[in-house]
Amino acid sequence: MQSDLIRKATEVLQGGGLVAFPTETVYGLGANAFESAAVEKIFSMKERPSSNPLIVHIAEISQLKDLVEKVEPMEQLLIAAFWPGPLTLVFPKSDKVPKIVSGGLKTVAVRMPAHPMALELIKSCGFPIAAPSANPSGKPSATHHEHVKAYFGDRIFRMEGGETQHGLESTVVQVKNKVPHIYRLGSVTPEDIERVTGVKPVIDTRSPHSPGTHFKHYSPETQLCVLTKEVWKTRIYQALEHGKRVGILATTESARSLRGFEVTVFDLGSESNLMEVGSRLYSGLIELDQQKLNIIFVQEFPKTGLGLAIMDRLQRAASR
Ligand code: TXA
Ligand code: MG
Repeated sequence: MQSDLIRKATEVLQGGGLVAFPTETVYGLGANAFESAAVEKIFSMKERPSSNPLIVHIAEISQLKDLVEKVEPMEQLLIAAFWPGPLTLVFPKSDKVPKIVSGGLKTVAVRMPAHPMALELIKSCGFPIAAPSANPSGKPSATHHEHVKAYFGDRIFRMEGGETQHGLESTVVQVKNKVPHIYRLGSVTPEDIERVTGVKPVIDTRSPHSPGTHFKHYSPETQLCVLTKEVWKTRIYQALEHGKRVGILATTESARSLRGFEVTVFDLGSESNLMEVGSRLYSGLIELDQQKLNIIFVQEFPKTGLGLAIMDRLQRAASR
C-alpha cells in the first residue's frame, strides 16, 4: 500500500509543484520532467543558470524510450552494471524532452536512483522527474533532510529520508565513439567504468559538453583551504597564532594529530573508509559553515579511486 508521504508528494508533482526527495547520492529537487513550467520553478528556486542542464530520474528502463534517441551497446553494459545506482548517462535526447531540462543541448542526462523512496515516487507519478541537487546554486549539496530544510524552509514540499548513503553526486558519463567520457567524478569510479566497458575512460571534468562543471560549486561561506600532510599542523598552528577561529574537516586519524589545539573538528571517519568520508563530506562543510569560523582546513586525500571524486569536490569548494 502507498504511504501518505508518497501520495502527497505525487499530488504536488502532478500539480506542477516541486518536491525534495532523497536519493542514494544527495537530495534532489524534483519536478515533472515533461512540464516546462514546473521545471522552470526549479531554476528560480535554486537561482540556477538556465544553461546548466538537469538530470532526469527514472524508475524503469522502459521510461528511457520517451527520453532518448537510442541506446548504444556500451551504454547497455553500463546500465546493466550500475542501474539503479549513482551513474548518470548522457544520451542524444528525444524531442519530447523540453529544452529547459537539457539547457538547450541536444543531449539529456538520465539516471535511475537506488533509493526506495525515490523509485516509489517516480513510479507513483508515472512520469520521469527532472532534479538537480536540492541546494541553492553553488552551495554544498544536501545529504540530510535537515540541510534541505535549512536551505529552503517550507518553500518546497520535503520528503524526510534521513542521511543519504553516498553523499557525493552521481558520476556523469557520456559514451562518444565507443569511449566513455567522465564529466563528473563520483562513487562509480573510472576503474569501475573500465572494468565494465573494457575501455579506459577519458576524464573530462571541465568539459564544454557538461556546462554544470564550470560553475562555482559546493562552496561554504567560510574560507576553505585544502592542506597537504607536510603543512597540516604548521598552517593550523599559524592560523591559531593569528587569533583565528579554526574549523577542521579531517579523518579520525588526522584529527587525532591535533590534540590540544583549540579547533572545531568535524570527524569524517577513518581514512581506511573513503566511502564514509565521501558520505560525510557535505555534512561537514554545511555544519562547520554554521559555526561562524574564520577558516576551515581540510586534509588532502590520495587521488585514486573514490579519493579522486572527494578531491574534485574539495578543490571546487575551496576555489574562490
Ligand atoms: O547524484 C546526482 O546526480 C544528484 C541527484 C539528485 O540525482 N543530482 C545532481 O544534479 O547532482 P545537479 O543538477 O546538481 O548536477 C547535474 C550535472 C551537472 O554537472 C550537469 O552539467 C550535468 O549533470 N549534466 C546534466 N545534463 C547534461 C547533459 N545533457 N550533458 C552533459 N552534462 C549534463
Ligand atoms: Mg548540484
